[in-house]
Amino acid sequence: MAGADAGDVQADSPVVVVANRLPVDQVTDPDGTTRWQRSPGGLVTALEPFVAGRGGAWVGWSGTAGEAPEPFESGGISLVPVELSDEEVDRYYEGMSNASLWPLYHDVVEKPEYHRTWWDAYVQVNKRFAERTAEVAAEGAIVWVHDYQLQLVPAMLRQRRPDLTIGFFLHIPFPPYELFTQLPWRSAIVEGLLGADLVGFQLPSAAANFVQLARRLHELPTRGATIEYDGRVVTARAFPISIDVAAFDRLANSPEVLARAKEIRTELGDPEKMVLGVDRLDYTKGISVRLNAFQELLEDGAIEAPATVMVQVATPSRERVEHYVHMRETIEQQVGHINGVFGSIGGPAVHYFNQSMPREELAALYRAADVMLVTPYRDGMNLVAKEYVAARSDLGGTLVLSEFAGAAAEFRQAFLVNPHDIAGVKNQLLRALRAEPAEAARRMRAMRRHLVKHDLDHWASSFFDALRAQA
Ligand code: ADP
Ligand code: F6P
Repeated sequence: MAGADAGDVQADSPVVVVANRLPVDQVTDPDGTTRWQRSPGGLVTALEPFVAGRGGAWVGWSGTAGEAPEPFESGGISLVPVELSDEEVDRYYEGMSNASLWPLYHDVVEKPEYHRTWWDAYVQVNKRFAERTAEVAAEGAIVWVHDYQLQLVPAMLRQRRPDLTIGFFLHIPFPPYELFTQLPWRSAIVEGLLGADLVGFQLPSAAANFVQLARRLHELPTRGATIEYDGRVVTARAFPISIDVAAFDRLANSPEVLARAKEIRTELGDPEKMVLGVDRLDYTKGISVRLNAFQELLEDGAIEAPATVMVQVATPSRERVEHYVHMRETIEQQVGHINGVFGSIGGPAVHYFNQSMPREELAALYRAADVMLVTPYRDGMNLVAKEYVAARSDLGGTLVLSEFAGAAAEFRQAFLVNPHDIAGVKNQLLRALRAEPAEAARRMRAMRRHLVKHDLDHWASSFFDALRAQA
């Protein structure tokens, strides 16, 4: 999306997406020039094609602190930037969103911190998003608010624009009552979400957690998936997110990507087996788990380098948040240790890239890999797992998948693992490496059959149909 054009924005959009980030980030090059590039993460991957196809508007942050650029048009979407000051980036984004809510919602894999100044900034920024959305949404429009950074927006928006139909989708897990109630501002968050007509989650268990909270914490009448609140009925249901399967399949089958996949194997020294990990560099993703398993298998002599190599691509993410700084150091030390012991000149056992890569390159990596390792401690869905399956129309390759990723509910034929059980991960990794082609193909075929039916369009239209039914 680099090089988006400034232009007229459709002020009265019938569909408005509201998310912390715009689908493009403003980046400044060393020579001082600014340009736009695609934002990281699953939310943008999932939503961008959907909004572009409907000519809708997208309200979000540009990824840079300071004055917001004027609204502009890009890839068929009207982009409406929301400003965040340096202090708000620090308190609302890095603090409340990513050092309080993110770890709390991911099973407290790291300890969440709670600060009143962070909360105040969260309220202030949510209000700004609600105000901006209220300005651009057409009369009676459908507004779709996304993710944990903006949980107060539904109620704030309803207060300003009762004519709107409001949906909310949480891309990350939603914790059980026992964890959620740690949050000093738990009631405000639940009330914020109840401003929506429909609250969507990745898994039925998450939707049930929310309904239970409404009942136990707010003593609201609930019935199945519905909650009575303020004279309205709010529905909480699961809508497992997906990807544009056909587009990814096409990309992975293009002659350029197939040629690049071959080239990657050659560049890696023609290993017998290539194991792959692709993630945002996040402590929830369990990157250390797979490095540990790989290292122990090398130590045990069950595998040898460079006959078997691992490639780990980790996009830099939230680099100023302390938990992330630590984790990056740990992972880089681990990679250094493995390569120090098991590598050879020109032949590392682990090829580690702390970079974002173009989608074509990712598709080629997926196509080149024998085993894809997806081992999060907790993950709302994990679109990387879906991209891998979408890329493998050749029915080659195996998927090792954490039971704690939302995707595990759909991909029962993956080699499922408990990332806390290192012996189990090693076992499954070995099974995946040694799987006969017929077994690998049988598993992949079953996963692809499911994925083709449950693609991005299926997700978005199920959500929209349910939302319209509420209106
Ligand atoms: P999350 O939303 O937590 O980042 P997901 O697995 O659901 O995790 O989505 C990650 C998205 O980011 C996927 O579309 C994936 O292709 C993309 N991505 C992950 N790592 C990289 C990378 N190194 N370069 C480019 N894109 C990446
Ligand atoms: O879905 C999880 C998510 O946090 C999205 O909300 C977000 O856009 C993406 O991961 C990447 O994270 P960030 O915007 O903090 O870089």
